[in-house]
Amino acid sequence: MSGSTIEVKPGIYWVGAIDWGLRDFHGYSTELGSTYNAFLVVDEHVTLFDTVKATHTEEMLWRIGQIIDPGKIDTVVVNHAEMDHSGSLGHLIEVARPERVFASPACEKALKAHFHHDGWPVRVVKSGDRLNLGRRNVTFLETKMLHWPDSMFSFLEEDGLLISSDAFGAHYASSERFDDEVDAGELMHQAGKYYANILNPYSPLVLNLLEQVGKLGLKIDIIAPDHGVIWRTNPGKILSAYANWGSQKTREKALVVFDSMWHSTERMADAVGQGLLEKGVSVQVMDLHGWHRSDVVTELLDSRGLVLGSPTLNNGMLPRMADMICYAKGLRFTGRVGAAFGSYGWGGEAVKLLNEALDEMKVQRVHEGLKVQYVPTPQDLERSRELGHVVAGAILADPR
Ligand code: FEO
Repeated sequence: MSGSTIEVKPGIYWVGAIDWGLRDFHGYSTELGSTYNAFLVVDEHVTLFDTVKATHTEEMLWRIGQIIDPGKIDTVVVNHAEMDHSGSLGHLIEVARPERVFASPACEKALKAHFHHDGWPVRVVKSGDRLNLGRRNVTFLETKMLHWPDSMFSFLEEDGLLISSDAFGAHYASSERFDDEVDAGELMHQAGKYYANILNPYSPLVLNLLEQVGKLGLKIDIIAPDHGVIWRTNPGKILSAYANWGSQKTREKALVVFDSMWHSTERMADAVGQGLLEKGVSVQVMDLHGWHRSDVVTELLDSRGLVLGSPTLNNGMLPRMADMICYAKGLRFTGRVGAAFGSYGWGGEAVKLLNEALDEMKVQRVHEGLKVQYVPTPQDLERSRELGHVVAGAILADPR
């Protein structure tokens, strides 16, 4: 990436920061790092939309300085108060002394609770409110819970530019800034991972929002989220992906997620996977020794089946499985079918606990669960394949 300016539209610049080293975001593995996007509009009112994480304040100020003296910023729009987008706000306000800072009603309160500021010139805007910057007008749209109660979109009407905060983003650090400059498959994978790990619990709100955007008739030319690249070539692609993800649209695919002590549960997992395959269901067998919880839920985004396997340890399940369940439960996937299995020595409680976990996750159980003592026999592996058949039958019976 050149050190000079990056223009999104004439007079609108990307002035964010690239966090190459980020590897964890609240338990979500960010193997490609991330970006914190901020946008500078040079108009009669020089306006900054969003800021960056505190650690990257200097980078943002340097980028702004390539375009204009940061002291000339008179207007700031805060679309979201979470610290990855507001961490440098206090410093920016000290440097720029803006006349006005726009925020949603919930964001105004969140800014107070984060920064305990005294006297920032915050003005509250609500859905449908408009702001004139000179040659441009901005419409605001509150997007509650995408990803916090305070979240908001800013739509630059004349430019067709939707600054969408967390929505439509991806944790994807790259020297490129636009969708057509990066690998399309990797981008959609990272966008899906972001949705699964951040936005999935709010899927009904995503669908409402898409409907609202459709009704408003916004002529969206470019979608600029606050993480990852800017969708300038085909913003419809990410809008339609969100429509699918929001409606929990799945395909004929199952995950067999397991942990194992002495390979018995592992052998059962392979047999369950084989049983699913025999019935024509796409399968991903995921050993938690190697798969991160956030990659499991990413695979779950388009999987209709979820089969969990763990041996019994100290009357419970293995800790990596408990970790994955705790994480996945909070993400509130709906419309899945599944079952549980595992080996044991004497107590054998793990399968019962996995069944309870599936119930709590609202996964429809289609099998009572399969327990095998110590090491599976050929007959036990056959029963494991049959469990796969049962789950496959439920997946194929659901025409979604
Ligand atoms: Fe990227 Fe909800 O902050």
